[in-house]
Amino acid sequence: MSASNLVWHDHQVTHAERVARHAQQPAVLWFTGLSGSGKSTIANALEVELLARGLYSYLLDGDNVRHGLCKDLGFSDADRVENIRRVGEVAKLFVDAGLLVLTAFISPFRADRDMVRALLPEGRFIEIFVDTDLAECERRDPKGLYKKARAGQIPNFTGIDSPYEPPEQPELVLRTAQGAPDVMAREVIDYLQQRGLLPA
Ligand code: ADX
Repeated sequence: MSASNLVWHDHQVTHAERVARHAQQPAVLWFTGLSGSGKSTIANALEVELLARGLYSYLLDGDNVRHGLCKDLGFSDADRVENIRRVGEVAKLFVDAGLLVLTAFISPFRADRDMVRALLPEGRFIEIFVDTDLAECERRDPKGLYKKARAGQIPNFTGIDSPYEPPEQPELVLRTAQGAPDVMAREVIDYLQQRGLLPA
């Protein structure tokens, strides 16, 4: 049941003051794609690059968030919706704090990604489709999960017996067959600079 009798507190330190401390403009870099597509690897490479430039970021990763904030959730459609809802709200808080938030979740449903987009100011939700096809993800199978899913040991596995809805108009599409993670990270940095979110 939702709580009532709540009021929103305005803080003494404002969003504008928090943003003014950093050279960057805050935004969410939302990586989406199949398990094993390379979301986390690219997001990690990007975070290393941001750190090297003295910028402030935080990476929210599906596998890690599911150990804590979302440890009560599984992989039914309803649980995935709730997973993305929570992550979206956390990402929004980090943006309020002035950070660049990198998220690496399969986030298979278009409506959920659009819901997070709607939480953020215009231009501050950057959807990055890590477009690695199922055959390649299955060939890589870094955690051995596709093999288990094919053997019927993991129900509702994305791409096998649970759907993935690719973005229709992502801000960026990264094809991991065409470049190493640091090359992909550089593409994201170029985009952010073009949009004036990062210093040149
Ligand atoms: S999401 O669909 O809710 O966005 P999330 O990104 O948090 O998924 O978690 C995906 C990770 O959980 C995968 O990379 C994989 O390691 C693991 N996993 C375990 N079971 C499943 C499943 N049924 N479908 C997809 N990923 C699964």
